[in-house]
Amino acid sequence: MKIIVTGGAGFIGSNFVYYELKNSEDEIICYDKLTYAGNLENLKYAEDNPRFKFICGDISNRDEVYRLFEFDAPDIVVNFAAESHVDRSIEDPELFLRTNIIGTSILLDACKKYGVKRFHQVSTDEVYGDLPLDRPDLFFTEKTNLHTSSPYSASKASADLLVQAYQRTYQIPATISRCSNNYGPYHFPEKLIPLMIINALNNKKLPVYGTGENVRDWLYVEDHCAAIDLIIRKGKVGEVYNIGGHNEKTNLEVVKTILKILGKGEDLIEFVTDRKGHDQRYAIDPTKIKTELGWTPKTKFDDGIKKTVDWYLENKNWWEKIISGEYQNYYAKMYGNR
Ligand code: NAD
Ligand code: TYD
Repeated sequence: MKIIVTGGAGFIGSNFVYYELKNSEDEIICYDKLTYAGNLENLKYAEDNPRFKFICGDISNRDEVYRLFEFDAPDIVVNFAAESHVDRSIEDPELFLRTNIIGTSILLDACKKYGVKRFHQVSTDEVYGDLPLDRPDLFFTEKTNLHTSSPYSASKASADLLVQAYQRTYQIPATISRCSNNYGPYHFPEKLIPLMIINALNNKKLPVYGTGENVRDWLYVEDHCAAIDLIIRKGKVGEVYNIGGHNEKTNLEVVKTILKILGKGEDLIEFVTDRKGHDQRYAIDPTKIKTELGWTPKTKFDDGIKKTVDWYLENKNWWEKIISGEYQNYYAKMYGNR
């Protein structure tokens, strides 16, 4: 089969490309605009694989997308392509609407025009909004109402609604997965875990928003890839699957764990102004994907976070190139006067 992986040069997409090259016989075509978050170096071990091809293109460009479907005739499309950072969406929502909503609608139109066996939308638990900190008994299920907080999550929720509308109206064979926060190799250093690892390695302050009590439910990226692989092959058309491994941690716990692994002092922690509209807690109930598809996460947080820190230690070149460029302007703008 031929699988188009949109956004395959980003964090989760590149891990998914490697997962499929290793675990399937399928042909993988990565279609990616190479925004600031897309990086061909993420795909350097796939480059020479005869089952892999890279095409530079934008999911919100209809002509380009139609050409892609016409010439490459995919069986399956997995849509990772998105603007993915909440803080950037608070600064500049419009690009999020164009890529995450219009881009998804154009991919769906292409599926309708050319036909596919499966369109899979990689969504997020952030479409459910947040849970209160004092109700640890509550979890997001697939039936939880969509209730978004940031322009990012609103754009992802809109895309989910479009996928469901195209499935019902035009019988596009679509599935959706909503995963909790991922961590692992190739994670762009604007996000909590890689940012904190790199700052600690450079003996720079670790900017924790607010009190650091917000809770995220962390999943090692390879477990997310395995879940998506199962859904596109065995999942039922029209269904939504939550993905998460019951790994809830406060941000402060995560940051302290990283400092401990690196042997650095907690004096590096700096509490800074909170994020606007900051979601309190995310927590996934993964019962459906466990019982219906037999998925369970393999990597425990304690092992995954050590593997991740090791990866950043071993791949200094990768992140040094990133943080020496445009990233410096981003960092000054977001953290300069925080
Ligand atoms: P990322 O920002 O690392 O990568 C996004 C990729 O999409 C980049 O390679 C970028 O170049 C590409 N892209 C952006 N706009 C594009 C466009 N218009 N056309 C084609 N390509 C474009 O993001 P990520 O963290 O890997 O997330 C991937 C997907 O998974 C996103 O849809 C995100 O909403 C979802 N998700 C992420 C997490 C997480 O913890 N990172 C959790 C759940 C769901
Ligand atoms: P992030 O990695 O941006 O993911 P998301 O907002 O999609 O969950 O942030 C994870 C948590 O870490 C979130 O509660 C915000 C917090 N955070 C900080 O405290 N400091 C930072 O510098 C960043 C980037 C995030």
